[in-house]
Amino acid sequence: MPDSAAAMISAVEGVDALLIVTPEYNWSIPGGLKNAIDWLSRVNPNPLARKPAAIWSVSPGLLGGARVHESLRQTLHCQEVIIMAKPEVQIAGAKGKVDVEAGQITNTETETFLRGHLSAFQAFSQSWRRA
Ligand SMILES: Cc1cc2nc3c(=O)[nH]c(=O)nc-3n(C[C@H](O)[C@H](O)[C@H](O)COP(=O)(O)O)c2cc1C
Repeated sequence: MPDSAAAMISAVEGVDALLIVTPEYNWSIPGGLKNAIDWLSRVNPNPLARKPAAIWSVSPGLLGGARVHESLRQTLHCQEVIIMAKPEVQIAGAKGKVDVEAGQITNTETETFLRGHLSAFQAFSQSWRRA
């Protein structure tokens, strides 16, 4: 087990919910993210199982990485992750909305939308933790 994989596994074990923010690579899951999920899937008990999760896709393109959602959901279902299906988050034209260097969202409408989504995800996660 590489140290980096062990550290990631321990981090995922320690959280109540997962917000996955990802680009789309060739209409699917970027290799690095898939690799991370594959490492997590080898642990028993699986740190992903029964954990609430939401997906944000981000792209400089027009579709906002819409196509990564389906393949990522399929892989997460296999790990028994509890995925919040809606509202969906696809951030299109990200270059005009995010300042990567500053680590900030520069578009007010996008920020408001994402804050609303975080509130919905918090409620979703808490409802599953109580269940
Ligand atoms: C191998 C590769 C495949 C990509 N495929 C897609 C794609 O299918 N859809 C899309 O919207 N953007 C695609 N992109 C553009 C990414 O959304 C963009 O490069 C993004 O900034 C990725 O961030 P990263 O380079 O830090 O991983 C692709 C980029 C790479 C490097």
